[in-house]
Amino acid sequence: MINQNIPESVAIIMDGNGRWAKKRGLPRTYGHKEGCKAIEALIPEAGKLGIKYLTVYAFSTENWKRSKEEVGALMDLFRFYALRLLKASKENNVRIKLIGDRRKFPSDIIDSINMLEAETAENTGLTFVIAANYGGRDEIRRAAARYAKALQEGTVPKEAFAGPDAKVPEGELTEEGFAAYLDTADIPDPDLVIRTSGELRLSNFLVWQAAYSEIVITDTLWPDFNKDELVKCIEEYNGRSRRFGGV
Ligand code: FPP
Repeated sequence: MINQNIPESVAIIMDGNGRWAKKRGLPRTYGHKEGCKAIEALIPEAGKLGIKYLTVYAFSTENWKRSKEEVGALMDLFRFYALRLLKASKENNVRIKLIGDRRKFPSDIIDSINMLEAETAENTGLTFVIAANYGGRDEIRRAAARYAKALQEGTVPKEAFAGPDAKVPEGELTEEGFAAYLDTADIPDPDLVIRTSGELRLSNFLVWQAAYSEIVITDTLWPDFNKDELVKCIEEYNGRSRRFGGV
């Protein structure tokens, strides 16, 4: 890893828990359990590598369509891991943040989410962002609603509107001005998006924020993903040249 340029912000689509379990003749929920262990082990490693923001896609706005048993098992896993995450975050100086619409979760889970954020808010190491009941389009929809409300209430800051030298017409809302209403307002866009288990889709993950991200796909199923796999993804990222629309 020496001489590697470490991306500041990394986002992961943790895919393949079900397949991991199926390959072993185990129920899908067992794969999710192993997936939780994989993320728990990865958090301190990501911090040690020098990553500042690690965002994971834990539960999408579409995942409610899974069987009642599977959704229930994922909720129970979150309940169980909330306390472990709190302990690990305190030990590793990790700040936890949730993106997504938490209002749809059972009230005890909403309480856990609020508690995780409040208890870790002062930590200064890795920011671990959990996307839960998250969908990129839904996030943009909610941001538009927040912006409309702020506009009505007259609370949109004047820096949100373009000056004479901006890339959008003077007086119009800028991209940065709008992004301040997204769930990720204080989280840098991902430099690198990793997707496990070989699927070539963004699946409604960070659709605004990933506009210029490098995407690395690995065939590894999520429960088998670890620090060495992360380093391999960073090496592939380092081999790319990022142009942000330039030449
Ligand atoms: C994708 O595998 C995985 C999920 C939908 C859930 C991922 C969630 C976790 C690992 C838990 C995270 C928990 C915390 C506390 C942050 P899949 O079921 O779609 O796999 P498949 O494509 O092989 O069926």
